[in-house]
Amino acid sequence: SGYLPKLRNALEKFGVPELLLNFVSTKGKGGETLKIIPQARGALSALRGQPFFIPLYNLFLTYGGIFRLNFGPKSFLIVSDPAIAKHILKDNSKAYSKGILAEILEFVMGTGLIPADGEVWRVRRRAVVPALHQKYVAAMIGLFVSATDRLCKKLDAAASDGEDVEMESLFSRLTLDVIGKAVFNYDFDSLENDTGIVDVDVFTIMYIYPFQAVYTVLREAEDRSVSPIPVWNIPVWKDISPRQRKVSEALNLINNILDDLIAICKRMVEEEELQFHEEYMNEQDPSILHFLLASGDDVSSKQLRDDLMTMLIAGHETSAAVLTWTFFLLSKEPGVMAKLQSEVDSVLGDRFPTIEDMKKLKYTTRVINESLRLYPQPPVLIRRSLQDDMLGEYPITRGEDIFISVWNLHHCPNHWINAEKFDPERWPLDGPNPNESNQNFSYLPFGGGPRKCLGDMFATFETVVAVAMLVQRFDFQMAIGAPPVEMTTGATIHTTEGLLMTVTRRTKRLIIPTLEMKLATSVKVEADDSLK
Ligand code: HEM
Repeated sequence: SGYLPKLRNALEKFGVPELLLNFVSTKGKGGETLKIIPQARGALSALRGQPFFIPLYNLFLTYGGIFRLNFGPKSFLIVSDPAIAKHILKDNSKAYSKGILAEILEFVMGTGLIPADGEVWRVRRRAVVPALHQKYVAAMIGLFVSATDRLCKKLDAAASDGEDVEMESLFSRLTLDVIGKAVFNYDFDSLENDTGIVDVDVFTIMYIYPFQAVYTVLREAEDRSVSPIPVWNIPVWKDISPRQRKVSEALNLINNILDDLIAICKRMVEEEELQFHEEYMNEQDPSILHFLLASGDDVSSKQLRDDLMTMLIAGHETSAAVLTWTFFLLSKEPGVMAKLQSEVDSVLGDRFPTIEDMKKLKYTTRVINESLRLYPQPPVLIRRSLQDDMLGEYPITRGEDIFISVWNLHHCPNHWINAEKFDPERWPLDGPNPNESNQNFSYLPFGGGPRKCLGDMFATFETVVAVAMLVQRFDFQMAIGAPPVEMTTGATIHTTEGLLMTVTRRTKRLIIPTLEMKLATSVKVEADDSLK
């Protein structure tokens, strides 16, 4: 009896006008009315000129937790209902692939963990997840501290000179430096290089600032995800377009760097005495790459490179965006900032954070949780149905492209009290950290089900350390005359014109302690049981 609505849904997907569709009966055998997914109408012009998830939010308020949106010849299902999101991501996750996302990211991630599906994904997830064990994450705290300390030195200089700082690009550099070391022990050193991130030439990318290659590739991935026509696939265009040539130069450069790093690491693994075991870690080089090679990963494989590239991208702009929007939110809520600074002062005093502090910085963690609610990165999750299925009460066919709007779930006025308010205490400080399981898929900062982010604890600690160290030493205000902070979107939510802030040293003089890079190996990290 699900056949007719399925047919009707399928016809609707191909843009058959409603008038004709009405000839397809929606009555089941017993005369009951079968459900047809509501179709959003008349709002397409609204999609232009603002980040696409904003009009999707307005349509959600009109059409509800699942609706269809036809966009030219393309048709999408927009899901904003927690139960349906849970069904797709967790309960029936095998029936869904990454669809369009895999197509867009293929040029940079190949079959890396984010785009991969099926057996490739299963095998690689099993290989990579163990690399992010507790001892590794604990060791990363030292890395977060030293990178943030370098950022603090830059801010110190700006504060002395009375210069305003554009925080978004600094956060992007901070998290690039962190993820390069964490994933394959490479120092991009982007915080130390003061060039602008925008369009540099190939020469600069190749010989002066390799980190620019990462930005060239990232911008391309973002442009491709919002471009209606895939010009990059047109054979001649690929070769003659200067921009496409620059992208391939940048990709070549990153791949060469990766090949070199893999070779160097392989030699280290061969020379070391360490036996491989569950919590294996080389203290000089705790990187994920080192773990993977020691565990017997195939060095020559393109798959290894794809996975490294995937983690580089996955762990870079996401964390940067979280920091950017957190500081924006804090600038609007001085009361939250005051509480945050008071927690940081009482837990840390003048010293650097350690792994033990991660449990104690409860309010700081809630600030990150709440920032991720208001600005989820990425704001939508993409899937494609591999078989017919039921979404709630609606039958769907194979081949549907689906956007799960995390933005809508996180802003739903029926679910959240004062949904738009930045209120870190909406989750009790002595309660569990909010995650998709304990929030019944109304809150999905790291996705959910088998494809959940494997860097969630890494990213939480990274952002908690950065926020704590920054507010420990500085006060932040929007700069006078700063451009308005508006959103634009690629893979993550960016500002349109940066986040220009005035940074001042806290009046309480702090004695900056010497950096202790000792790895906190004996301490157990309090793991979130839903993680792995
Ligand atoms: C997947 C968010 C940091 C590696 C995901 C997904 C989300 C997410 C929502 C699920 C995507 C989907 O279901 O389609 C974030 C956020 C981060 C962050 C908000 C920072 C605040 C990181 C870091 C790493 C990482 C630091 C690496 C160390 C990955 C990988 C996947 C993933 C490999 C794919 C997992 C799979 O499909 O099996 N991330 N992530 N992420 N993330 Fe993260």
